[in-house]
Amino acid sequence: MKVVNANEKVSIKLRINGKDYEDVVEPRKLLVHALRDLGFTGVHVGCDSSNCGACTVIMNGKSVKSCTLLAVEANGADILTIEGLEKDGKLHPIQEGFWEKHGLQCGYCTPGMIMEAYFLLKENPHPTEEEIREGISGNLCRCTGYQNIVEAIKYASEKMNSKTD
Ligand code: FES
Ligand code: FES
Repeated sequence: MKVVNANEKVSIKLRINGKDYEDVVEPRKLLVHALRDLGFTGVHVGCDSSNCGACTVIMNGKSVKSCTLLAVEANGADILTIEGLEKDGKLHPIQEGFWEKHGLQCGYCTPGMIMEAYFLLKENPHPTEEEIREGISGNLCRCTGYQNIVEAIKYASEKMNSKTD
């Protein structure tokens, strides 16, 4: 077992949005800060107690709150952030849904909310309104009152299903 002292730094590798990155971090560095320092500043910090979900990213296929993981724990992981969703300048249907249905105001919760919606729709392509609300219950928004976020996710679900059905 490799032991690392508190004042030592560790080399880690992360695959982010399909590209490989190497970083050298202190063991105590949170993944959210590592991602932001690598330039993925769409990943936000909204709290210090794991409630808000503004830091949500997809790691190895699961949605995670990147403020509750150490960067060293993510060594070798495959991570998708909001910056990796559009393809060749074309918005992902969830991004389009948030625009069309006015699912954001200040935009601070939006990257995390969209990544959670991405995970939700991957797990459950036809969610009911209740399932959508449950699915995003780890993501807080102070602006929208959630209604238009639910509409945005419904829009994305319909659009994504019409493509694949
Ligand atoms: S920053 Fe609030 S849950 Fe991660
Ligand atoms: S749009 Fe402002 S916090 Fe959600």
